[in-house]
Amino acid sequence: MKIFHQAIINFLKNKTRIFVTHDLRNLKYSSRIIIMNNFKVEFNGNYDEFTKNELFKDFNEINSIQNKDCSLNKNITEISGEFYTNKDETFGGLLRDEDQVSGRITCKIYHRFFTTHGGYLLFTIILILAIAVGAASVYAKLFLTDWTDKAEDEEEENEDDYENIIKKEENYKFFIKYTLILFGGLAIQLIKEFLVAYANYTGTKYLHETMIYNIIRAPINLFHDIIPVGQILNRLIHDLELCQDIIWRFNTILGSIIGIIISIYVCFKENRETIYAAPIIILIAVLLLLYFISAGRDINRLNGTSRSPIVSLFSETILGITTIRTFRKEIPSKKKFYKRLDDYFGVMLYRYGLDNWFCMTLDVVSHLFLTYVLIRTILDIDSFDAAAIGLMLDYSIEISEELLEAFEQASQVERSLVSLERCDAFTKLPSENYEDEKLKEPKYSLSDTSWPNNGNMFFENFSIKYRDDCDLALKNINLEINSGDKIGIIGRTGSGKSSLTLSLFRIIEAFEGKIVIDGENIRDIPLKKLRRSLSIVPQEPFLLEGTLKTNLDPLNLYSDSELEEVLKIVKLYEMLEHDKANQNTILNGLNTEIKEYGNNLSFGCRQLLCVARAILRKSKIIILDEATSSVDQKTEDIITSAVETMFKDSTVITIAHRINTVKNCDKVIVMDEGQIIEVGNPKELIKNINGKFYSLYYQYMEKIN
Ligand SMILES: Nc1ncnc2c1ncn2[C@@H]1O[C@H](COP(=O)(O)OP(=O)(O)OP(=O)(O)O)[C@@H](O)[C@H]1O
Ligand SMILES: [Mg+2]
Repeated sequence: MKIFHQAIINFLKNKTRIFVTHDLRNLKYSSRIIIMNNFKVEFNGNYDEFTKNELFKDFNEINSIQNKDCSLNKNITEISGEFYTNKDETFGGLLRDEDQVSGRITCKIYHRFFTTHGGYLLFTIILILAIAVGAASVYAKLFLTDWTDKAEDEEEENEDDYENIIKKEENYKFFIKYTLILFGGLAIQLIKEFLVAYANYTGTKYLHETMIYNIIRAPINLFHDIIPVGQILNRLIHDLELCQDIIWRFNTILGSIIGIIISIYVCFKENRETIYAAPIIILIAVLLLLYFISAGRDINRLNGTSRSPIVSLFSETILGITTIRTFRKEIPSKKKFYKRLDDYFGVMLYRYGLDNWFCMTLDVVSHLFLTYVLIRTILDIDSFDAAAIGLMLDYSIEISEELLEAFEQASQVERSLVSLERCDAFTKLPSENYEDEKLKEPKYSLSDTSWPNNGNMFFENFSIKYRDDCDLALKNINLEINSGDKIGIIGRTGSGKSSLTLSLFRIIEAFEGKIVIDGENIRDIPLKKLRRSLSIVPQEPFLLEGTLKTNLDPLNLYSDSELEEVLKIVKLYEMLEHDKANQNTILNGLNTEIKEYGNNLSFGCRQLLCVARAILRKSKIIILDEATSSVDQKTEDIITSAVETMFKDSTVITIAHRINTVKNCDKVIVMDEGQIIEVGNPKELIKNINGKFYSLYYQYMEKIN
């Protein structure tokens, strides 16, 4: 109210102010009132005209409820959210920058690669097959040379018919043998490629599934609160894609190494002197590679980490596009985006530069071998025949090509292994404690209805911390809640109300102490069982893409008539029926399409759907965390009384936002700075003029007056 008077009425008095609200107390300050109903303007006029309109009667009824609520003999009202204190200043630096590991890729990562991609045995088989392919190829070439030599010799000899027949027969045999070698090599190559593809499939599948599984099960406070979504997407998309290349690169390297060895062997066989040049050239190339790799590795890490901020900023910008446009911050946003792109391309520039330098230098080095073989051959041209010279030159050129290929791929493998290292880190994330699921006979199965059957709760010296570097969010809570109690929790923003409810679901595990529900320490209850046994309407309503039906009943446990029944309770059914009558295609009963996050429904509607979802489950314990903060007073009253009747026997914990929500509670808990500072019946607490409840109430009354 203070904000309304001081900021909207006074400070902005020279501006046109459009105030969209379901709060009726401020209507009298408006020069024009527009009332909307079912997508239409139902009334348009000033306050005087409004008071004479029949709609006024209807609204007056609600007004009187609100005024009544504010009267002294009733209790609490909008207390939560009134006093903003920013206790946790560490939030600014909360989101963790991406880890940038430096140094060599360790043997562990290589080991991890081989074990995740099918194991050492598979790689040994691939190695043997690769050697066989190489051997078949060189054998085929040597065989061809032999064949040509023989043909040349025979041409020189005198030919008669008989010899011609024998020659033809021999040629035929040669041809069959050559074909067999070629096809044999091809078949082995096919088997090898298939095994490589299989290893790749196994490894990628393992990485993808484990990463997704771990991300979904990672603790909210220890992982999702601190890792930006861009980082997660980057690893799942870009890094995983690079991981898929590793094995193909290894495959190429293997082929090239075998090719180099064979080429050296062939050259050596024809001219023994070539053996002196080969080790020197290879040594220079290896030194070059080591030099390149150490620079390339860090550039690649930088490359990976400079991409995540772009993805994060992009998703953030899309989500906050309306705010950006409202404040005309398109250009600064663009600049921020370009700055991150610049950082990224800056790294890319170095990467491309380094790549090109390496390829060029390696090219020069590998051609040195070819030059050496050429010079040696020219100097001693008489000792070689034409076929031998052809073969040597052919293989010398191949050495250059294979060397380039092998070393280029080796440098890329290092890069891709950095991505594997990054993905691997996500396969070892801490998980929420689902250990009990692995037990053959967990203490309580999901279908077991024997717990919780009463709904009483007991907090003993209970404390929680969001993370090690955070202060205690709840401190030494001692509280007893009896079965069927209706509890209201109030307190300033940040006082720990939501944290208390989160700890009931073990979203944040106990730092000290315990919570006992129906005689069982919740730490001993299987996590799934615990979470299915309690219902919550969270502070932020959350809907998934799908239909109204799938959102209400994701596990398909209830009939359509049951679903319609709860929709009636939360007053959504009439809205849907009305739209059906008007042939509105957007809202279509239980099949109404729900977009991402429920964006096609109003915030109030989303809250009502979450309430309906909780009512449907008929749990013994139900928690409403400011569940109706965005619906009008009349709807809230209807829902509150519906919840009261439907959950007569259940324990209901309501985090209060308005007086109506907690006025009939059996017990009100006042929280401050993570502690319970007052507990009692609201009618009793209001009498204690030295109490916190009393003072909060009066502070509020002063504000609205
Ligand atoms: N995800 C988080 N990581 C670290 N600290 C957190 C996190 N969420 C809440 N806190 C801290 O825990 C304390 C209690 O927060 P909580 O959300 O429980 O308050 P609340 O009473 O529900 O406030 P509100 O009325 O605004 O919903 C606050 O000091 C807050 O800074
Ligand atoms: Mg809260």
